[in-house]
Amino acid sequence: MVRIDTELLSKRRVAEGYFELRLRWPSGAGAPAAGQFLTLRARGGGDPLLRRPFAFASHDAAEDEATLVIQERGSATRALATLEPGAKLDLLGPLGRGFAFPERGTEPVLVAGGIGVGPVLFLRASLDAAGVASRFILGARTAALVPESLLPRGAGVEVRTDDGSLGTRGTAADAVAALPRDARVALFACGPKPMMAALDRIAAERGWPYQAAVEEWMACGVGACMGCAVPLKGGGYSRACADGPVLDGRLVKWD
Ligand SMILES: Cc1cc2nc3c(=O)[nH]c(=O)nc-3n(C[C@H](O)[C@H](O)[C@H](O)COP(=O)(O)OP(=O)(O)OC[C@H]3O[C@@H](n4cnc5c(N)ncnc54)[C@H](O)[C@@H]3O)c2cc1C
Ligand code: FES
Repeated sequence: MVRIDTELLSKRRVAEGYFELRLRWPSGAGAPAAGQFLTLRARGGGDPLLRRPFAFASHDAAEDEATLVIQERGSATRALATLEPGAKLDLLGPLGRGFAFPERGTEPVLVAGGIGVGPVLFLRASLDAAGVASRFILGARTAALVPESLLPRGAGVEVRTDDGSLGTRGTAADAVAALPRDARVALFACGPKPMMAALDRIAAERGWPYQAAVEEWMACGVGACMGCAVPLKGGGYSRACADGPVLDGRLVKWD
């Protein structure tokens, strides 16, 4: 992990309220893995004071670039949405534990819900680069919230929308539930808690491994404050920033 001053290379809108930031990621900063994150703030303004966490959506070592996919939610993300290329960024990363590659003989099924799409896209690209085929399922409320230009090309890509305005009507979890029960699936996911909880129920019922990237509130971002505690079914907590953000989804108490 290093703190770096870097710059924004480009910004583009990818869905309603979602934008992609492409930034310079110097090779000395280390190669991020899918599921890892950085904390970020724009330099020069007093607000926001705190860095905010965002997952890597891609990393290109040859070009020294990385991307993030961000949804406008509050003051920090609204401020990031107004940045122009050349803006100075203050980053800390790569942070946390990313996804582990699936065991041989399992079929990786990658599930993204809403703004959870970034780390799942990165995992898909990492598996592609390693020659590992995967299924990619994206769930969104409606077509306007689907970042179509970012979706992976190739086989095994499925979109589900709650209102049926794009792809099949239904949820990403419905698509997972429709997979054959005896398939040797390894689940990987990032998305809203109801989706993550539904995948946990399916994984538990079918004995499938389930790696879940959680997106808890964070303060320090480096394991020092317990501000990001994730409750576990067996009692106790994991720290999203240091033990995760990728955790064994079957151990997390989702509701
Ligand atoms: C490991 C990790 C990875 C993340 N990756 C991404 C990413 O790739 N893209 C992305 O857009 N966001 C991501 N987030 C969430 C992102 O950090 C928050 O959206 C951001 O900090 C909000 O800052 P803000 O000042 O704009 O909003 P605030 O004013 O702080 O909050 C505005 C609203 O957003 C909601 N909110 C804020 N933070 C979170 C959160 N962590 N989880 C759920 N709801 C939240 C709150 O309900 C609040 O009402 C990630 C969070 C974590 C912990
Ligand atoms: S945010 Fe401080 S321990 Fe995770």
